[in-house]
Amino acid sequence: MNNDVTRLKQQAAYEAVNFAQSGMVLGLGEGSTAIWALRRIGELFEAGTLRDIIGVPTSLHIEAEARRLNIPLATLDEQPVIDLTIDGADEVDPQFNLIKGGGGALLREKIVAQASKREIIIVDESKLSDHLGMKWAVPVEVVPFGWRSQYQFLESLGAQVTLRQRNGETYHTDQGNVILDCDFGAIEDVESLGTRIKTRTGIVEHGLFLGLATDVIVAGSQGVRHIARNQ
Ligand code: A5P
Repeated sequence: MNNDVTRLKQQAAYEAVNFAQSGMVLGLGEGSTAIWALRRIGELFEAGTLRDIIGVPTSLHIEAEARRLNIPLATLDEQPVIDLTIDGADEVDPQFNLIKGGGGALLREKIVAQASKREIIIVDESKLSDHLGMKWAVPVEVVPFGWRSQYQFLESLGAQVTLRQRNGETYHTDQGNVILDCDFGAIEDVESLGTRIKTRTGIVEHGLFLGLATDVIVAGSQGVRHIARNQ
């Protein structure tokens, strides 16, 4: 990864962690940007600056990293209301709609996002886009049984579909499902596409995160910008 982009990811993450306070339940996002937030939370917890926090991880990988950093953890069942989640995104439009799931954790990320009072999305400026779909395919998580049928359904909606692979093998999510990456090109109506995808049995979730982000923190060559919705 280019050093400049890594630095931007870190800057956005550190800015977001400024909104974490002692006593909070924190949703812990997945990805190469959110990991910087996790590390920062770990540092501040160790230093005693952030006290009495509880983390709710959005993936098994982040759970393992958080344990390594000695961050106290709970499941979403134990802490069903989250004060603040910090997570990354693959693409962000001007309305704060997102494509997420490049790292494969979209289902848990969306469950945690919808349980969060505040969802801060941290990105470098390359993720900003006028229309979702211009830069990134929409990941769709489907149960393995009959996945080819979902593949054909998604093609019928106009997508170019790819079964996600990792190291030459079919990729499986933390739930044991597979991911179909759906390149729709620029999506005109994200709401109606999201609704159509969700009605299909066998499809578990899609990576269109609509109306879930409350804040976006963007790091770019001109500095770090924080945009909050409805403020
Ligand atoms: C993980 O499943 C994703 O939703 C990530 O949040 C998203 O892909 C952004 O990842 P990076 O921060 O690694 O670009």
